[in-house]
Amino acid sequence: MSANLSVEINGLKFKNPVLTASGCFSYGEEASEIYDLSLLGGVVTKSLTYLPREGHPPPKVHETASGMLNAIGLTNVGLERFLSEKLPFLAGNDTNCIVSIAGSRLEEYARLAERLSDEEDVDALEVNISCPNVDEGGLEFGAYPEPAGKVIAAVKDKFPRPLIAKLSPNVTDIVNIARSVTDSGADSISLINTLVGTAIDVKTRSFKLSNGFGGLSGPAIKPVALAMVYKVASAIKVPVIGIGGISSASDAIEFLLAGAIAVQVGTACFFDPLAPVKIIDGIREYLEDNNFDDVNDIIGTVRQ
Ligand SMILES: Cc1cc2nc3c(=O)[nH]c(=O)nc-3n(C[C@H](O)[C@H](O)[C@H](O)COP(=O)(O)O)c2cc1C
Repeated sequence: MSANLSVEINGLKFKNPVLTASGCFSYGEEASEIYDLSLLGGVVTKSLTYLPREGHPPPKVHETASGMLNAIGLTNVGLERFLSEKLPFLAGNDTNCIVSIAGSRLEEYARLAERLSDEEDVDALEVNISCPNVDEGGLEFGAYPEPAGKVIAAVKDKFPRPLIAKLSPNVTDIVNIARSVTDSGADSISLINTLVGTAIDVKTRSFKLSNGFGGLSGPAIKPVALAMVYKVASAIKVPVIGIGGISSASDAIEFLLAGAIAVQVGTACFFDPLAPVKIIDGIREYLEDNNFDDVNDIIGTVRQ
C-alpha cells in the first residue's frame, strides 16, 4: 500500500505536503500546460495588493552563485482582476488555493482579507509581512515583533479560515517574530521569505538591479531557512511551513525532519518547472524505502 502523504493545517487537509511558493508560480496558468495542478498539495498565489501594481523597472532579477536576486516590486493584477480571472482558473483544479496578501498599510491588508473571506474557493490566506510600512517610514512590517503582530491582528477577525503568517528572515530573532504573530492570531507560520542582498557591476560601477537591493532565493539560502524553520518549529506550537532553496525531495525531507508540516517550492520552479511534482514522488519513495506508512511520522524527528 502506498504511504499516506496527506497533512492537515488547522483543519484544512492537503493531499500532500508540497505547495508552490508565492511569486514563483504566478497564478498557475503556465505550469498547468506542463502538469496537472491537482497533483499539488496547494498553490500559493503571487502576493495580491488591493490595486494592481506594475512593480520595478528592469533589470528585476540577477543570477548569483546557487541562487538569484529579485526586485520585482510586487507586480500583480490587483484584487478585482484576481477575482474575475485568476481565482476561477485556480478553483478549477483539485488543490488548495492559498492567496498571498500584501499591503503598505494595515487597512489594505484588512480590506483584502475581508473581501477574500467571501470567496469559498480561497482555502487560506498567507500574509506577506515583508512589505514596506508606509505609516512607519517604509520599514518592513515583518522586521519587528510589534508591527508584525499588528498586521495579523488586523486581518484575523476578517477572515474565518486558516491564516498563515509568512515571516521575513531579515531579523535579529526569528522566534520573537513568530511568537508575536501567533499571539496575534496566526494559525500557522511559513518561512522564509527572501534575504536582502545586492550585486554590483564593476564595469559600470552601478547596481545590477534597478532597485539597488533585492531578495536572495534559491539553493544558496537553504541552510539559513532550515535553521530558522527548526528554531521556530521547536519553540512555537503552530504548524510551520518550510520555504527556502528546496529543489529536491531530499531538501524537502530535511525541512519535514526539522519540524515543518509542509513545504513550498519557489525558485526551483524557474529552473525545473516539474520540481514540485518530482518532490512529491520523491517523498513517497523515501517513506516507502524507509518503511514509514505516513508522512506525519517523520515530521520533527531530526536527532540531535
Ligand atoms: C521572483 C520571485 C518573486 C517572489 N514574489 C513573492 C511574493 O510576491 N510574495 C511572497 O511572499 N514571496 C515572494 N517571493 C519569495 C518566495 O515565495 C520564497 O519565500 C523565497 O523565494 C524563498 O524560497 P525559494 O528559495 O524556494 O525561492 C518571491 C521570490 C522570487 C524568486
